Amino acid sequence: MSDVLLVEKLDGYVALVTFNRPDKMNALNLEVRRALFAALAELREDDEVRVVVLTGAGEKAFIAGADIGEFEGMAPVAQYRAMQRGNIFSAMEEFPKPIIAMINGYCLGGGCELSMACDIRVASSRAKLGQPEINLGLIPGGGGTQRLPRLVGEGQAMKMIMTGEIISASEAHRIGLVEQVFEPENLREATLEMARTIASRSPIALQAAKESILAARRMPMDEGLKFERAWFGLLFSTDDMTEGVDAFLSKRQAEFKGT
Ligand code: COA
Repeated sequence: MSDVLLVEKLDGYVALVTFNRPDKMNALNLEVRRALFAALAELREDDEVRVVVLTGAGEKAFIAGADIGEFEGMAPVAQYRAMQRGNIFSAMEEFPKPIIAMINGYCLGGGCELSMACDIRVASSRAKLGQPEINLGLIPGGGGTQRLPRLVGEGQAMKMIMTGEIISASEAHRIGLVEQVFEPENLREATLEMARTIASRSPIALQAAKESILAARRMPMDEGLKFERAWFGLLFSTDDMTEGVDAFLSKRQAEFKGT
């Protein structure tokens, strides 16, 4: 595994993945994107991992965007193909386990887009978020124009993308871009506690929840409701559902196995 991305398996079926280019504010370059692809492929198959937490190394940044150094001299078609080939954002949404973004600092451009491709975003009160691509004569290219309005509404997305302004964690929380904010010293433990809570649920039900919620983006309501019902019915065939119901009726803690 490349050292630009660190993967640690922690207690409670949680994997912590750290973007590790702190001297470059963890900017996303090709090497990091490739390493993330490879890590997701491994974590997907790993039964000891049920929830993934992504964060940035160092005190300052989650990810300060795509590596701007790679933009210089890039031919238009090569850039288009690079983004088409290596779409980590879609890979994260297709990943069958929950992914939490633990936003510890600057979360800008492609970093903000990467956090939006996660299922839940939690942030340090010191974090700063934004889509500053407009300052480079660009727009977000990793899904920002599509995922941001779905999270915060069209007007707030227009404002963030058109001004390029960088907002505080509390403002991001207020508009719905992050789900929870913690003091920096509590961020890691509080996030891992949330991750372990989620990881204690049935992995198949978690996958069903993620797929069904994400399906709402591409399906009209009636199709989405059918999709949800199909998953709901399918879950009746799982050992986890039998275990969950039995545990509830016997007033004990359920132990889900993912079968
Ligand atoms: N791509 C490549 N390198 C980046 C980067 C990025 N997106 N963001 C930061 N870096 C590098 C800087 O070039 C600098 O490298 P150097 O020490 O070799 O010169 C290093 O990270 C530290 O950044 P610096 O700008 O000195 O830190 P700062 O605390 O003054 O400012 C930011 C932090 C995040 C506000 C500032 O780095 C910034 O605006 N980054 C670009 C954000 C952006 O536009 N992202 C969208 C890209 S599409």
